[in-house]
Amino acid sequence: MCGIIGYIGYRNKKEVAIKGLKSLEYRGYDSAGIGFINDKVYVFKKVGRVDELKDVVNNINATLVIGHTRWATHGGVTEENAHPQTDCSNNIMVVHNGTIENVDELRLRLKNHKFNSETDTELIAHLLEEELKETEPLKALELTLNQLKGSYALVIGIKGVNKLLFAKQDSPLHIGLGKKEFFLASDIAAFVEYTRKFVPLMDGDYGYVSLEGYKIFNKGKEVKRDVLEINWEIKEVEKGGYPHFMLKEINEQVDVVGNALAVNTSNIEEMISNAGSIHIVAAGTSYHAGYLLKLLLEKYKGIESDIVIASEYIFTKRPNKDTVVIAISQSGETADTLQAIKFAKRRGARIVGITNVMGSSLTYLSDEYAIMNAGLEVGVAATKTFTSQVAIAFKIVFGGRVNKEKIKQTLTSSLNIDIASLAKKCINYDKMFFLGRGLSYPIAMEGALKFKELTYKHAEAYPGGELKHGPLSLMDEDAFVFAFMPEDETFAKMIYSVEEVKARGAFVAAASPGNVDKVDALLKVNKEEMPYQLFSFIPLLQLLAYRTSVLLGNDPDKPRNLAKSITVE
Ligand code: F6R
Repeated sequence: MCGIIGYIGYRNKKEVAIKGLKSLEYRGYDSAGIGFINDKVYVFKKVGRVDELKDVVNNINATLVIGHTRWATHGGVTEENAHPQTDCSNNIMVVHNGTIENVDELRLRLKNHKFNSETDTELIAHLLEEELKETEPLKALELTLNQLKGSYALVIGIKGVNKLLFAKQDSPLHIGLGKKEFFLASDIAAFVEYTRKFVPLMDGDYGYVSLEGYKIFNKGKEVKRDVLEINWEIKEVEKGGYPHFMLKEINEQVDVVGNALAVNTSNIEEMISNAGSIHIVAAGTSYHAGYLLKLLLEKYKGIESDIVIASEYIFTKRPNKDTVVIAISQSGETADTLQAIKFAKRRGARIVGITNVMGSSLTYLSDEYAIMNAGLEVGVAATKTFTSQVAIAFKIVFGGRVNKEKIKQTLTSSLNIDIASLAKKCINYDKMFFLGRGLSYPIAMEGALKFKELTYKHAEAYPGGELKHGPLSLMDEDAFVFAFMPEDETFAKMIYSVEEVKARGAFVAAASPGNVDKVDALLKVNKEEMPYQLFSFIPLLQLLAYRTSVLLGNDPDKPRNLAKSITVE
């Protein structure tokens, strides 16, 4: 999703902006732009990659710079629609993440202005142009913000003003604190090379950074915000000898899982034990980790909970003051998840956050939170953060009894299983089914999601018992079935499901510690007690998706149409 970098200081502006945008590439984008100010506003934009933009950007000698990677929402993928957007007189430049909702109303108000793009962002530049006719920049910003409905992280440069203005509402924005230099970015990765100290801004915050310092305001009053320290290393933005970030991050799981298990979850355990009702909310891969948490809580602690897709929460649930909502989000910025917990908070519920990003909105909205400490995940598809989420789920359920070594060994042994020939087989199939039952069903769901994300092939997950209720009609020689078969009470039933699909001509692969002789390919994993056995399946589903994607010529780090942090609803 869109990325923002802003900089004021002594370094080469083009270099800081390009490097910043490069480090934001992993979030997904379709066009990019950079704007400088000295005696005038200079804007350079390009549809395509930051490397292409770099070639068209002049190295302007300026005090400040802003840059943006755009993921189209309002208006097509064109140079005109890329950011920075400017006003009529070309004195103001704006980069924006988020969505402005009252676009039509604002356009009416700005009838006399000349628009060059289809974006909601350009409206902000024109509104500010109007307000600046009457008042000074900070007040003009405040008056502009009062007219906006929607979400925004904004960084703004104005000719003749040696400051970068900023504002944040429902979209992440951080100030990076250097010595006589300041950064503004939607993601700390954009400035980690220069400083490890940062201030995460809160909703409603606005203000400025200048060479002398920074000021933050909220509702007309100056406010102070926490200064935090980045908890991962710059080397995490590099591939470290691996061909792709995804492969690197899959291999890092064994180490980072220990960080997740080191987290103290006792307050969370207590909140769960005393809750009148428990709702778990999350999206995508995090939803699968949440699903597993639900099943583990029920099976091993007898605690019931509901798992809800974050974007469905407000339509389906009525939390109250006795409800504990557990929100799982690696980024801590997923708009759907944040919307769900804000709704729950308004109704009096208490919030537990599980996230990888310290200082993310989720940490500020939660009454208690657990940080996974998995390090930066650059690959768009979640891998090590999923495993860390599952590890935290184990910690919440088993507390101090959770066996870290067992988890590490189980992951390590599966990482050594050769999946190359199975991936070769997969490229010939367009109908993929991932089967599991009980605790392995969320694993099958994650298998299908990862596979479809990376290979662009249709993949679905089913509990084995559900096949006869519809999906069997799809089983023929063109179907590929991957079954997760731990040796628990589901094993015999899964054997039956495997026979069912095999009899209809499907190619069947299974991952199991047991003997499954009916299948075409068996990935024999080490025997482990449940629920630890689940960790043996995770690297396999990730590697299958990864290898197949590479064989198909796709970029596994940046699957098409997807972005890392989905900060719009
Ligand atoms: C899948 C993937 C997405 C995310 C989802 C939620 O590989 O990465 O499905 O899991 O967008 O993101 P977070 O966890 O940041 O809330």
